[in-house]
Amino acid sequence: MSSDSIPAPTPITVEELIRQMAEELDRSGVFLGHGTDDPIDEAAFMVFHVMGLDHAEGEQAYIREVPEEQRQELQLLLRRRIQERIPAAYLLGKAWFCGLDFYVDERVLVPRSPIAELIGDGFQPWIDPIRVRRVLDLCTGSGCIGIAAAMVFPEARVDLADLSFDALEVARINVEHHALGQRVSVLQGDLFGAVGTSRYDVIVSNPPYVAKEEFLSLPEEYGREPSLGLVAGEDGLDLVRSILAEAADHLEPGGILVVEVGSAEQALERAFPGVPFTWLDFEYGGSGVFTLTRDELLAHQGQFVASRKEPGNVR
Ligand SMILES: C[S@@+](CC[C@H](N)C(=O)[O-])C[C@H]1O[C@@H](n2cnc3c(N)ncnc32)[C@H](O)[C@@H]1O
Repeated sequence: MSSDSIPAPTPITVEELIRQMAEELDRSGVFLGHGTDDPIDEAAFMVFHVMGLDHAEGEQAYIREVPEEQRQELQLLLRRRIQERIPAAYLLGKAWFCGLDFYVDERVLVPRSPIAELIGDGFQPWIDPIRVRRVLDLCTGSGCIGIAAAMVFPEARVDLADLSFDALEVARINVEHHALGQRVSVLQGDLFGAVGTSRYDVIVSNPPYVAKEEFLSLPEEYGREPSLGLVAGEDGLDLVRSILAEAADHLEPGGILVVEVGSAEQALERAFPGVPFTWLDFEYGGSGVFTLTRDELLAHQGQFVASRKEPGNVR
């Protein structure tokens, strides 16, 4: 080697690179929570994606050497992740949910709902999976919840509904990617306005539920997501009130409503103290998801309708 030639970079394994990147992520103070919640997982997500690795490969994947070109690509991605606070899922155009991969970009929220666990369990014990023929994913975004439900209920027809035309373009990409066009439909409209008079066995929704003030204090990464998917009025309950008011009219007898309200759980309990919300427990983390049966919704429908933020309804 001549004295002025550039030395070859030291080889690095997948495992070492993941550790290095994780340390940098940790030091940088980026917010984790858009698909992964610790630096090692975030770094592994990026490295596995760029190198086209499969976790099924097990330990073998970690002892591979990282080719220089991919190492440089990962360095650029890491820089953008840290400097611009862009969630890794947007940088890679991909997110995992319920063990399935989804295309994502900044037109939709990054999938992360704890409802994934419930879908994996076929919504048991809240409904008998055998009777699930129709499912509605209200406020579908990327389509992740409804598409995962369609996989779990292979005989069911699933509707994906959202107000945002942009989000629905992403949902369509995912319906096609998972070859579900025969029984999964994409519908545009304001909440139940998208579905006409249709009725379902399961209505599942992860609507916007962040209170206006709380939104202002969220980490920068949330600012990369469409605010239409996050903010829902002063107490975060604007959309949830409407869903509660109308859900019974769109459920079959014996049907259930499942809604994530996250940080608005306490506000919801305060708003409707007499309503028997069943709050679900999750083995893999997350909270703020309730279920109600059609009968429970019907029993309190008058109260839900009166609580809606409409002219004439004073709260
Ligand atoms: C919290 S995101 C959830 C996306 C997806 N279900 C998920 O879990 O990743 C909420 C979604 O609600 C949609 N949305 C907001 N207002 C709506 C409305 N009035 N009617 C229907 N969808 C609405 C947004 O466009 C956004 O895609």
